[in-house]
Amino acid sequence: MKIKVLDPLIASKIAAGEVIERPSSVIKELVENSIDANSKTIEIEIINGGMDLIKITDDGNGISKEDLPLAIERHATSKITNIDDLTRLTSMGFRGEALASIAAVSQMELSSKSPQSIAGSNIQVENSMILNENPISMVNGTSIMVSNLFYNLPARKKFMSTQKSESNRIVRLINHFCVTHPEIKFKLLIDEKQKINTHGDGELIHTIAKILNQNLASELISVSNYDGDFKISGYITPPHISRTNRSNILYSVNKRIVKDKLITMALEQAYRGFLTIGKFPITVLNLNTSPSKVDINVHPRKDEVRFMNENEVFSFIQRSVRETLIQKHPVPNTFNAVHNTAYPLTSSGTKSNFREESIYNNRIETREQTSFNFNTNNENTLFTNNNFPILRAIGQIDNTYIIAEGEDGMYILDQHACHEKINYEKIIQSIGSNMLDMQLLMEPYLIDISSLKTRFLMNKLDSLNTNGISIDLLDDQTIMLKGVPATIINTKLNDFIKDIETFIESELDINDALGTMNTIAASIACHSSIRAGDTIDLKEMNLLLRDLENCNEPFHCPHGRPTIQNISINQLNHMFIRPN
Ligand SMILES: Nc1ncnc2c1ncn2[C@@H]1O[C@H](COP(=O)(O)OP(=O)(O)OP(=O)(O)O)[C@@H](O)[C@H]1O
Ligand SMILES: [Mg+2]
Repeated sequence: MKIKVLDPLIASKIAAGEVIERPSSVIKELVENSIDANSKTIEIEIINGGMDLIKITDDGNGISKEDLPLAIERHATSKITNIDDLTRLTSMGFRGEALASIAAVSQMELSSKSPQSIAGSNIQVENSMILNENPISMVNGTSIMVSNLFYNLPARKKFMSTQKSESNRIVRLINHFCVTHPEIKFKLLIDEKQKINTHGDGELIHTIAKILNQNLASELISVSNYDGDFKISGYITPPHISRTNRSNILYSVNKRIVKDKLITMALEQAYRGFLTIGKFPITVLNLNTSPSKVDINVHPRKDEVRFMNENEVFSFIQRSVRETLIQKHPVPNTFNAVHNTAYPLTSSGTKSNFREESIYNNRIETREQTSFNFNTNNENTLFTNNNFPILRAIGQIDNTYIIAEGEDGMYILDQHACHEKINYEKIIQSIGSNMLDMQLLMEPYLIDISSLKTRFLMNKLDSLNTNGISIDLLDDQTIMLKGVPATIINTKLNDFIKDIETFIESELDINDALGTMNTIAASIACHSSIRAGDTIDLKEMNLLLRDLENCNEPFHCPHGRPTIQNISINQLNHMFIRPN
């Protein structure tokens, strides 16, 4: 076929398709415009998942009568004049493409009034052309109505999800806007029913309480850190509250909603050891940095960023969150953690707020809290390793749990989890320094790699070789494991080898040095530790307790399970119906 220049209308529809993927992308662009216009209130209405109608009304600066026709022109913007402005950009928009793109794939009506004008103006647009232009009486601000999205792009329309899932996507997006801009009052109506209505009083925690869950908000830990180049602030969940997916890991960069693997990974790593595998935290965080340090012109939908120094960003976020967690998370109290109890407790206690669900829909699985409600104020129960209770071992239950007496009653410790944590921290300290003794295997263990992607393989082998493990390439199909850390218990050797095999086969990026170290250390620690079912004497128990006291973070094993639970004197008195 001969090369020919496309008709401008077709070209603009194709270009629009990159910016406007679905109803939620229209809403993202329009809400961002309202934010750029300094709006204090933004109201969003959708009908039929946004496919039939999207209407956004704000009380911002408005657009003058002269500018209104320009607003729908491609590459027409009031936000930048030259390319250097991008390094100083504080607005969400900069390309002058959003309204033009929406105009190319929908029927649109814009009404706007700036405070300087006496009346407002209204234009009706179809196929990127203005059909009507009229004065209109309205209050200051802008109202944009987008109807019949993709009516002229049937191929795209076919790929839309159901009305419900498009609506859910929009709810998630607006929730994210709400927590990113607590100073703005947001209202969302779906098919005429109000779904979101925030105060806009500027207090993030009020917004979280309003749109997520009041009880959950009261459990959150505040994060705030500044290192000269970066500032992070917001809230995170303590280790006992988690979700089974990443959809509640919310963050923004300079108040811009983006998706960034680096940030997600830094947050997940900050929780490593606090949460079990497959559990994820809830976060609401904003990272602030100079616009010159972050490129936002990466993706047509402006939802990705590239940092000038990725390592710095990664370690700043990871460090800020991890240090906060270590400082603030409380010692688990038995009655906050146990689902069922053997004691006949009264049922008049407060309902707990721990939900294994998305924070945005009110699904199930509520843990019942008992009437023992002594530790509702986390501030009173904050322990760091400095005030880890001094414990005296009393005995062992089921060859699995150590019972100890301490400053506030009875403590129950999981002997395997404790030993695992002690070993883990020792390994982490000595890892990479060749301080881990090695035992040579009687027979090298061969791992078949012919089916593997070998992108990071050599790096992986190098990193293992510094950690008490001797491993080499036998040929281009086989890896040979010759030695393992001396601490690995004989009966656990096979399990350890399996972990090494899984690690080699995993997609774990070796550049993620911390991840590698933690994965290997956790495996060595696990397979070097006292097991549940092992009988240990009082002397060994007390040695274990002393070692645990010296851990940096003694409260959880490397997989995030608790090492210790407490039943306070008050609780004991209560159980036995004694006055306190
Ligand atoms: N709600 C609004 N209030 C005031 N002015 C607006 C509003 N929406 C759009 N505008 C004006 O219309 C112009 C074009 O908007 P559009 O979203 O197309 O481009 P942009 O925001 O400048 O850049 P981008 O394409 O990156 O979003 C804006 O630069 C702004 O001047
Ligand atoms: Mg815009």
